[in-house]
Amino acid sequence: MRAIAIDDFGGPERLHEAELPDPEPGPGEVRIRIACASVNPVDWKIREGWLKGLFPHRFPLVLGWDAAGTVDRVGEGVERPAPGTRVFAYCRKPEVQWGTYAEHVVVPADHVAEIPEGLGFPAAAAIPLTALTAWQALFDFADLGPGQRVLVHAGAGGVGGMAVQLARHAGASVCTTARRANHDYVLGLGADHAIDYTETDFREAVRELAPEGVDVVLDAVGGETLARSYELVRRGGTLVSIVEEPDAGRAERLGIRAGFVFVRPDGGQL
Ligand SMILES: NC(=O)c1ccc[n+]([C@@H]2O[C@H](COP(=O)([O-])OP(=O)(O)OC[C@H]3O[C@@H](n4cnc5c(N)ncnc54)[C@H](OP(=O)(O)O)[C@@H]3O)[C@@H](O)[C@H]2O)c1
Repeated sequence: MRAIAIDDFGGPERLHEAELPDPEPGPGEVRIRIACASVNPVDWKIREGWLKGLFPHRFPLVLGWDAAGTVDRVGEGVERPAPGTRVFAYCRKPEVQWGTYAEHVVVPADHVAEIPEGLGFPAAAAIPLTALTAWQALFDFADLGPGQRVLVHAGAGGVGGMAVQLARHAGASVCTTARRANHDYVLGLGADHAIDYTETDFREAVRELAPEGVDVVLDAVGGETLARSYELVRRGGTLVSIVEEPDAGRAERLGIRAGFVFVRPDGGQL
């Protein structure tokens, strides 16, 4: 198969087209003939070698963790999805090597989901990693529910945009940080309030909207943004970051729950 691979860590110039062996599905696995793959920030983090301490990496390494396409082979014991089914999946595996910038990818059958009718491959490929991250942070970790207030940082980003839509759909009241040029976009996704983090201190804007604090903050930026977010959470509320591990001591002193979520594949949830 043709793929875009790297043979060593480094900059974008390391990416090259390669002819690599076609993967075969093992027991419990399916092979997807990829129609579209999407690009996520994690791809360049892998390419640069930032994640090499977290998982074993092997070369040649094909980047890409998101795919949409058609099942073309199934391994032993797999009844569903059947060959010919249009599927999408978050394709992270315990070892980083065979990603989705390729013609084929093999993944466990329970990591894939059928693409809903009416959704094309390009849009479907953009969903798995970002949507699963937003879902697992907001609902599995933070237990966000109807009537609660949530601050979503970076609502114009891939994960933030999913989080705004999912939180709104769950009946929460959503404020989000985004540069002004993106305000129409995030309001269109369902945010109740958009805060321009480039012109104002988002803490002041959030305190005006929720003087007693918000129930949940989802941080998709890290650094200063995370550091300034602790005091915006009400006592008993939750701060969840997808970029870095929050300071547990600071959270405890404030009486809030805080944690880092790393997205895991889950075809059922998808
Ligand atoms: N832990 C996990 O499992 C997990 C999963 C997915 C992603 N991530 C990480 O989460 C981060 C975001 O991922 P993504 O896919 O959503 O990225 P993305 O699509 O590239 O979005 C980045 C967004 O950040 C916004 N932004 C930049 N600085 C900001 C600030 N100071 N305040 C508010 N918004 C700001 C930008 O919006 P404007 O244009 O409005 O400035 C941009 O739209 C990345 O670091 C990624 O690696 C982690």
